[in-house]
Amino acid sequence: MNVNFTFIIFETHINFQILHSDGNFKDFKVQVEIESPGRINLIGEHTDYNQGFVMPTAIDKKIYFKLGKNNSASLCRIYSETYNSSFQLNLQKITKSKNPWENYILGVVNEIQQLGKQLSGFDCVLKSELPIGAGISSSAALECGLASGLNELFELKLSKIDIIKLAQRAEHNFVGSNCGIMDQYASVMSRKDHLILLDCESLDAEYIPADFRNCKILLLNTRVSHSLADSKYNSRRQECEEGVRIIAKTHPEVKSLRDIDEQMLENSKDKLPGKIYERCSYVIEENKRVQKAAEAIKNGNVTEFGNLMYASHDELQHKYEVSCAELDFLVDFSRDKEFIYGARMMGGGFGGCTINLIETDKIDKFIEEADKAYFGKFGINPEPIIVEADAGTIITRN
Ligand code: GLA
Repeated sequence: MNVNFTFIIFETHINFQILHSDGNFKDFKVQVEIESPGRINLIGEHTDYNQGFVMPTAIDKKIYFKLGKNNSASLCRIYSETYNSSFQLNLQKITKSKNPWENYILGVVNEIQQLGKQLSGFDCVLKSELPIGAGISSSAALECGLASGLNELFELKLSKIDIIKLAQRAEHNFVGSNCGIMDQYASVMSRKDHLILLDCESLDAEYIPADFRNCKILLLNTRVSHSLADSKYNSRRQECEEGVRIIAKTHPEVKSLRDIDEQMLENSKDKLPGKIYERCSYVIEENKRVQKAAEAIKNGNVTEFGNLMYASHDELQHKYEVSCAELDFLVDFSRDKEFIYGARMMGGGFGGCTINLIETDKIDKFIEEADKAYFGKFGINPEPIIVEADAGTIITRN
């Protein structure tokens, strides 16, 4: 999910709009610094909110936060260096903003206060390397980074899991997207050079070495930006829940699609509207693919892993219907390249990036070719982003 930053005019609060040339507040004493990464997901899309399996990891592209207390009881000042955009908030009056990006901040502050934790005025300057609308979870990076920073600054004693869950609630309650737990979990819990095989029901995680042999991960950003809150993301989730409700009538033990196997789905086929059947079928198959992909990567079988990525894309396109022409074009463009093992749309869909498993020494040439072909078709240059599996949130106290 992604943050839609908008440019707003500086508010005229005393001291507020006066920034040093280095972008910091004039009276700003940095006490805590945070590096909060975006994430990729190798396979397991739209399975997290169905209590299924995912395989994400944090990446070496991040949002950087600087935080300090400002001696005020309730005034907080937030400045995004990247977007030269700022706002202030009053801890005693947290309400939703009309500016979408502010709601990520307000949502986190609200959830922390809902837990009965005490905050006082703080200043926060942030800088982002994460492209907007690219499906690499700039929103989770923003929410989890701020929550981790405030936890450290005010010694709130929140665990990492508390931070992950409150960041997810912020997204549900203030941003309006009923996201799963994958993005927040990956942003906080990842380990360098590893993928996470995450069971989204139990939150059991297995860390698998991200050993892609002679390949690297290349993202191609379609530059078609999505806002999942406005998109069909929430309605896909509802369709899955509707499937569960119908199947649970004959199988009362069923609580989520995680509890449903192919046989149960087939038994209920005549009771399920066609689209709902397709959505459920996709999720059941995708969970199996994640398990197979984990085995493949452990065995160093990059070919098998890549084939599972293509299979995932095909079903996201046709059964789950969350792809778009631009994503399909880039995936199709990769298919006959013997140096690309797998490609698929990544994240919520309806735009954002494709993720490609590609031989390292062919990357430059492929970027050139893909750029030309994509520009020829859509009149846009795709944005190439080469990423490494990196560690989750890094916290430094000054
Ligand atoms: C978005 C959501 C995640 C997940 C993916 C799809 O990134 O934030 O929770 O559902 O889409 O896999």
